[in-house]
Amino acid sequence: MPTVLALETSCDESAAAVVRDRTVLASAVASQVAEHARWGGVVPEIASRRHVEALPQLIEQVMLTSGLAMAGLDGIASTVTPGLAGALQVASVTGRTLARLHGRPFVGIHHLEGHLCSALLGDDPPQPPYLVLLVSGGHTELVRVDGAGAYTRLGRSHDDAAGEAFDKVARLLGLDYPGGPAIAAAAAAGDPRRFALPKGQVSRPGGGFYPYDFSFSGLKTAMLRLVRSLEESGAPLPLADLAASFEQVVAEVLVERSCRCARDQGLNTLVLVGGVAANQRLRALLSQACGRQHLHWHLAPLAYCTDNAAMIGVAACQWLEQGGDSAIDLGISARWPLEQAGALLERPALF
Ligand code: KG4
Ligand code: ZN
Repeated sequence: MPTVLALETSCDESAAAVVRDRTVLASAVASQVAEHARWGGVVPEIASRRHVEALPQLIEQVMLTSGLAMAGLDGIASTVTPGLAGALQVASVTGRTLARLHGRPFVGIHHLEGHLCSALLGDDPPQPPYLVLLVSGGHTELVRVDGAGAYTRLGRSHDDAAGEAFDKVARLLGLDYPGGPAIAAAAAAGDPRRFALPKGQVSRPGGGFYPYDFSFSGLKTAMLRLVRSLEESGAPLPLADLAASFEQVVAEVLVERSCRCARDQGLNTLVLVGGVAANQRLRALLSQACGRQHLHWHLAPLAYCTDNAAMIGVAACQWLEQGGDSAIDLGISARWPLEQAGALLERPALF
């Protein structure tokens, strides 16, 4: 059972964790959300600077909590793709420096593989094969998992990710960044059936629709038109009903297409991960739909839905168990296909 120190700085959370196989020995996250909120979104330059400031303390903290010395680690892992290039560099350089200094293997991890692995941190981890609905700020994907490192993307968003749609609609409604938690809070007292909103479909050239793909741009435009016409009436905006109707349609479309994909693929287990997986309405709708359709379901633990390093550590432990580690001069990449996550463990350095 390998033990790793894992580092994550791909977006706006700096995080470190010590993980043994699927057990979190220590995990710490320093969120920069409050600082980015005043700009209405993540400012890459600020993100990189804050990671540089926060990461050393986080590493010290998790090493102390775990009670381990560097010599007690089987590897040091960093998220190396996808994400903001400058931000990714911070965990990459720190991780590789520590690995070199302490003579430990370095493991470069794909951020989305980390999200997939967050489901393994629950009490009752799913057994492959299964389908994962991965919904974060940057991605909305349906991924078939046949085992560690064996990932096939079956569905995706053609425009905004689900989290991005939450963030943009929150801004439209005058709510804070990040939009997901702000919309969820506003929606709590709202009527989710008050406004009928579109469930965007993606046309297939030659006719029909891609059954497992998503599009949120039409929904965003519909929200904009609705808000404008309500504003023209001069009455105060029915914020709670707008937020609840939006949250409801996003959750419905995600759940409907995921269940359909699982059934069509002959997969009897559906797993929910990523920042948007923290949404309670989505968690409830997915559980209810799976229950009705006799599918097993697993929800990533709430603490590991939004970005964290524990999930990166689980992914790294899986690779180390298979004998994989990365080149010490592996770089970072803003984009990289999830199906190619295993290539990050090949030598020589890819990027
Ligand atoms: O996975 P994550 O922390 O970062 C990325 O890898 O993108 O996801 C962040 C996204 C943001 O767009 C945020 O608005 C959304 O997750 N989010 C939520 C909730 N909590 C975070 N969306 C809906 N409901 C929530 N409770
Ligand atoms: Zn993420």
